Amino acid sequence: MSKRLFIRTYGCQMNVYDSDRMAESLAPHGWTRVESPEEADLVVLNTCHIREKAAEKVYSELGRLRRLREERTARGETMLLAVAGCVAQAEGEAMLERAPFLDLVVGPQAYHRLPELLARRARAEGTALATDFPVESKFDHLPERSGPSPVSAYLTVQEGCDKFCTFCVVPYTRGAEVSRPVAAILAEARQLLAGGAKELVLLGQNVNAYHGEGPDGRIWSLARLLEALAELDGVVRLRYTTSHPRDMSEDLIEAHGRIPQLAPYLHLPVQSGSDAVLEAMNRGYTAADYRRIVDRLRAVRPDIALSSDFIVGFPGEREADFEATMELVRAVGFAQAYSFKFSARPGTPAASMRGQVKEAVKAERLQRLQALLVEQARAFNEATVGRTVPVLIDGPGRHPGQLVGRTPWQQPVHLDGTGLQPGDLVIVTITGSHPHSLAGRRAAGATVEGRA
Ligand code: SAH
Ligand code: SF4
Ligand code: F3S
Repeated sequence: MSKRLFIRTYGCQMNVYDSDRMAESLAPHGWTRVESPEEADLVVLNTCHIREKAAEKVYSELGRLRRLREERTARGETMLLAVAGCVAQAEGEAMLERAPFLDLVVGPQAYHRLPELLARRARAEGTALATDFPVESKFDHLPERSGPSPVSAYLTVQEGCDKFCTFCVVPYTRGAEVSRPVAAILAEARQLLAGGAKELVLLGQNVNAYHGEGPDGRIWSLARLLEALAELDGVVRLRYTTSHPRDMSEDLIEAHGRIPQLAPYLHLPVQSGSDAVLEAMNRGYTAADYRRIVDRLRAVRPDIALSSDFIVGFPGEREADFEATMELVRAVGFAQAYSFKFSARPGTPAASMRGQVKEAVKAERLQRLQALLVEQARAFNEATVGRTVPVLIDGPGRHPGQLVGRTPWQQPVHLDGTGLQPGDLVIVTITGSHPHSLAGRRAAGATVEGRA
């Protein structure tokens, strides 16, 4: 039997990481990854439940895939259909009721069992559902990272969340907060570096709450882990995402001034600039707390760029609350940001709060906020023009002969790729800026090593 696997990934970076790990867990059983569902024997949708739109996309895609499968069955071909990720976890049994044609529904903590679950399906045994939170950690059952790695490689160090922000499904879909042991992370990092990775992006739903067991038997913080990773051979850059302001400890802030490979870029979601809304969200900080954290970060690393997430139209948000968000944005200045209309998620406290905001009001606030954020991002890119900065080459660029790389502030730079290859760190003079990227020219003869 041919074993071609297609995975479509929705949602956050951790889902991208999980999709790769699913493919790696199936590889020893003969599965190879292909580029389209039309040529696949197994199609996996790795899903996201964070907002209503994200979850609904899955069902419309399933409708298309079901028709594709019917066509292929008529031609005598087989195609298995599986749903993984956060929608699978959140909906479980209900998903099988709504889409009874599914072969497998597997949650984010159970995907290491895919080979076994598929084998059982082939023997027509067992249930299609695997959404328990197993006692064993999937990480202990996944194969080692082998083969080539991308220049910028994701590495999950922490998963799950105990914060229970009142709008958020993650604590229910990913489960309780768990930190991987330091030794397992260092081993995986070495494997990724051996495969050619130059940048490690540490992932966690609440990555800066990391508190994993160290080789010395003590609990290590994220700052300590970053220091150990920075010592590994070949680490050019380090990043971590996503952080919660409440866990932005002093030692982690100081790490930004101390660890040369740690990129001067931090994604630190604030959600709102209104203390009343922050409290209703159960975020555990005030707008002033957030600004203090930013000030301390800038004191130790003056060139640090910040990005953030925002929710507009949270229940009870008045015009004055929204204005406070705009005020915070003006005061902080973000290089990059994501902003969303509040989406009521089933089972979360905010979904049934009084004071739900009208759709038209949400849309209008989102537009005002995005106009400001887009302008800040544009100004940030514009300010890089004329500077000479280290660029880590990622892969092919927009036009033939071009490559794209990233500045320490995460901006994509397109440049002439002559004599360069992915993984090179080069000194580039920025010659132009666009809303989402930069153009650059390699500075004469300059190549640097080991500096973010
Ligand atoms: N762990 C991260 C958030 C992960 S979800 C953190 O604590 O910041 C990514 C973003 O989606 C959130 O930061 C939030 O801005 C947005 N989001 C989450 N739930 C949402 C909801 N119900 N409606 C609208 N946006 C939401
Ligand atoms: Fe969701 Fe809040 Fe946890 Fe982030 S910190 S994952 S927003 S509950
Ligand atoms: Fe979405 Fe789950 Fe990530 S809900 S944002 S895929 S943790």
